[in-house]
Amino acid sequence: MDAQDFWVVIVIGFCFQAQILSSQNLTCNPNDVKALEDFTSTLKTVIHGWGSSFSSDCCKWEGITCNSSSSLGIGLNNSIDTFRVVKLELPSKRLAGNLSASLGTLDQLRTLNLSQNYLIGTLPTALFRLRNLELLDLSFNDFSGPIPFGIDLPSIKFLDISQNLLNGSLPGSICDHNSTQLRVLNVAANYFSGNLPPGFGNCTSLEDLDLSTNYLTGTDDGISKGLFRLPKLTQLSIQDNNLAGPLSEEIGNLVNLVRLDISRNGFSGTIPDVFYSLEKLDYFVAHSNRFGGQIPPSLSSSSTLSLLNLRNNSLQGSIALNCSAMISLTSLDLGSNKFDGPIPSNLPSCRHLSDVNLARNNFTGEMPESFKNFHSLSYLSLSNSSLSNISYVLQILQQCQNLTALVLTLNFRGEQFPADPTLHFEKLKVLVIANCRLTGVITQWLSTSSRLQLLDISWNQLEGIIPVWFGNFSNLFYLDISNNSLSGEIPRSITGLQCLIAGRISIEEPSPDFPLFMWMNVSGRGLHLQYNKVWSLRPTLDFSNNNLSGAIWPDFRKLRLLHVLDLNNNRLSGPIPSSLSEMVNLEILDLSHNELSGIIPPSLVDLSFLSKFSVADNELYGVIPTGGQFLTFSSSSFEGNSLCGYGASPCPSGEDGAPGTWYGKSSKDYTGVIAGVCFGFVFGIACFIGIDRYIWTF
Ligand SMILES: *[C@@H]1O[C@H](CO)[C@@H](O)[C@H](O)[C@H]1NC(C)=O
Ligand SMILES: *[C@@H]1O[C@H](CO)[C@@H](O)[C@H](O)[C@H]1NC(C)=O
Ligand SMILES: *[C@@H]1O[C@H](CO)[C@@H](O)[C@H](O)[C@H]1NC(C)=O
Ligand SMILES: *[C@@H]1O[C@H](CO)[C@@H](O)[C@H](O)[C@H]1NC(C)=O
Ligand SMILES: *[C@@H]1O[C@H](CO)[C@@H](O)[C@H](O)[C@H]1NC(C)=O
Ligand SMILES: *[C@@H]1O[C@H](CO)[C@@H](O)[C@H](O)[C@H]1NC(C)=O
Ligand SMILES: *[C@@H]1O[C@H](CO)[C@@H](O)[C@H](O)[C@H]1NC(C)=O
Ligand SMILES: *[C@@H]1O[C@H](CO)[C@@H](O)[C@H](O)[C@H]1NC(C)=O
Ligand SMILES: *[C@@H]1O[C@H](CO)[C@@H](O)[C@H](O)[C@H]1NC(C)=O
Ligand SMILES: *[C@@H]1O[C@H](CO)[C@@H](O)[C@H](O)[C@H]1NC(C)=O
Ligand SMILES: *[C@@H]1O[C@H](CO)[C@@H](O)[C@H](O)[C@H]1NC(C)=O
Ligand SMILES: *[C@@H]1O[C@H](CO)[C@@H](O)[C@H](O)[C@H]1NC(C)=O
Repeated sequence: MDAQDFWVVIVIGFCFQAQILSSQNLTCNPNDVKALEDFTSTLKTVIHGWGSSFSSDCCKWEGITCNSSSSLGIGLNNSIDTFRVVKLELPSKRLAGNLSASLGTLDQLRTLNLSQNYLIGTLPTALFRLRNLELLDLSFNDFSGPIPFGIDLPSIKFLDISQNLLNGSLPGSICDHNSTQLRVLNVAANYFSGNLPPGFGNCTSLEDLDLSTNYLTGTDDGISKGLFRLPKLTQLSIQDNNLAGPLSEEIGNLVNLVRLDISRNGFSGTIPDVFYSLEKLDYFVAHSNRFGGQIPPSLSSSSTLSLLNLRNNSLQGSIALNCSAMISLTSLDLGSNKFDGPIPSNLPSCRHLSDVNLARNNFTGEMPESFKNFHSLSYLSLSNSSLSNISYVLQILQQCQNLTALVLTLNFRGEQFPADPTLHFEKLKVLVIANCRLTGVITQWLSTSSRLQLLDISWNQLEGIIPVWFGNFSNLFYLDISNNSLSGEIPRSITGLQCLIAGRISIEEPSPDFPLFMWMNVSGRGLHLQYNKVWSLRPTLDFSNNNLSGAIWPDFRKLRLLHVLDLNNNRLSGPIPSSLSEMVNLEILDLSHNELSGIIPPSLVDLSFLSKFSVADNELYGVIPTGGQFLTFSSSSFEGNSLCGYGASPCPSGEDGAPGTWYGKSSKDYTGVIAGVCFGFVFGIACFIGIDRYIWTF
């Protein structure tokens, strides 16, 4: 909303309040009307459908529900029956401003839903004393400050204040005043801190408790006195807090649990062997804690679990799941632990298991031959798993009829790229074999994977050319062949990649939450990127750090859906085609460290999403185009050329920048100019941010 809209809204707001005051025929209870009027007075926005052009009967206003006429209003002094407001529901109405305490006088209110607005300020205490309130949903706003003291909500069943900026400690007293009907309590994604109060133990009706993504602390004792005594709990979400210590065996008391998420805390010790009593547990996520020891037998033979995620702990021993018992298991993530022994060969007998992440463990031995019969397998990651013999591994896995995503990064060190012409991966959509130092050339069998959407074979030592048939991957939107020794021209067929020209990039998720990629900043410090979802990746062609030569095809312009084009550090020559400006979605264009000549086409200023750009270290000359995003690029984007103008040395006056007339190349001379340019410019923040480089890790 810009400033002008803002004032229009304010003015309309005032008019509309005046209308309420002049209304004659109120069938609403006057106190309720007054409360609603005060409610609108602290808002900065007008509520559509409230006011004069509609009925002045507030019961007919949008989002208001009143109780039936017969029951109330009789016996009041008013000559007209009055109706009481029992529901106020205005979610997703772009309401901005503070929440008035006046709502606390709507004493018949049973439902208040103001979720997904832009409300600010503290939560009014009066709201938390509404004795008839059953449902309170203030989630997805910008409320701040603490939960009011002295909550008295004896009728409350559903309370959701998640996704705000609330802080302070959680009131343990919430159920002390007869709030015993509370079934759902959600305070997720706020800034609550302090110990988990044992008082939750009085919320005996709680079925769904979500405390996730806060700064709550606590140890076994506090948690077990409270949470682990709630007999009706079916969902417990305490992930992403600072809870620590061992997980109490008392969690076995929660016999009705269906979903349990304790991930991203500091739980340590062994996982208690109490899962026999959790006979309804379907979903158990405990990743990113400090659990050690082995997977307890009751967990590895649960017949109800469909999802088990113990990634990023320190679990040891060999993996021994009882697949005859685990008949519901579909998703298993045991990556980043200290498991040893063989890769469990019995997994194919877990009948419904489709998503498996075993990456980054310390397995010994070969790929089990039994995986040939792993027909339910759809997603498999075995990155950094000490695997060898890539040909053998692929020969086995090609027989998994349903395999769609395969991640084998950091294995097979120094082996040859498989050359077996009989390999065949018809259904594969995602293939990642990065950072294996594979040698040799890219061979034909890969062309059978005609459904590939994502192919990453970066950080190997592949030689030879980029095969022409890469252009036939009609679903491919992400291709990373960077950091190899590929040579020759970029095949022109690449400019015909259908998905990047016109395709709708629709990606079926291979799995809910597994790491597909992990990158670390080249410097080894700072940013660490992890991508768990295919859709979170931008359409990309990364050919950087190879020996590619020849020209950049003007037909790259056809790849209108491409977001990242990285040709950095090759031996590409010839001009930069001005038609690249037609790649309207480009965010990153890196042509640095090549042998490109000519000028920077002025048309490139039309690339309005371009946030990173470099042509450093080429043989370019002339004037750097000005305008658009080019005003945000720093001198490092242009250095190592014979360029002048904005972002480099000033052009000599009257200069057209043609070769032979201007040769300033000392980058030291630029700095003063650049600093001046950057600081003087609105987008100054973007100055001096280079193009980040990441290496593979797992
Ligand atoms: C109040 O509204 C009703 C209809 O909704 C109408 O019949 C009645 O005349 C109105 N009374 C006044 C005082 O305007
Ligand atoms: C409140 O409204 C939102 C948006 O319509 C809805 O998603 C949410 O379920 C409602 N809250 C409750 C408790 O019904
Ligand atoms: C509204 O909220 C803002 C932001 O928290 C606060 O500074 C201001 O005092 C509040 N106004 C009222 C009237 O409560
Ligand atoms: C809550 O946030 C406010 C404003 O950011 C801050 O002043 C206050 O100290 C915080 N309270 C707690 C208990 O962290
Ligand atoms: C709790 O409810 C009972 C009756 O249901 C009532 O007698 C008692 O006073 C209430 N206690 C509080 C603290 O509201
Ligand atoms: C439960 O509530 C009662 C008062 O109703 C209180 O005395 C007791 O301490 C509470 N229990 C816990 C565990 O806080
Ligand atoms: C692994 O878990 C630790 C906490 O034990 C956490 O700090 C770290 O960020 C997690 N790593 C990843 C990649 O999730
Ligand atoms: C595995 O589970 C099945 C079925 O529950 C059971 O009969 C069998 O004894 C278990 N095997 C082991 C080794 O525990
Ligand atoms: C992996 O296992 C080998 C023995 O098989 C052992 O020597 C090595 O220390 C283990 N590595 C880690 C990181 O645990
Ligand atoms: C293979 O996938 C298809 C479709 O996704 C599914 O219907 C079939 O059950 C799967 N096969 C096995 C053995 O799970
Ligand atoms: C790899 O496995 C194949 C069997 O598919 C075998 O013939 C070959 O000798 C193995 N290579 C190595 C280096 O172990
Ligand atoms: C591979 O896994 C081992 C632990 O098994 C870990 O120490 C190492 O850092 C991982 N390698 C990379 C490059 O992430």
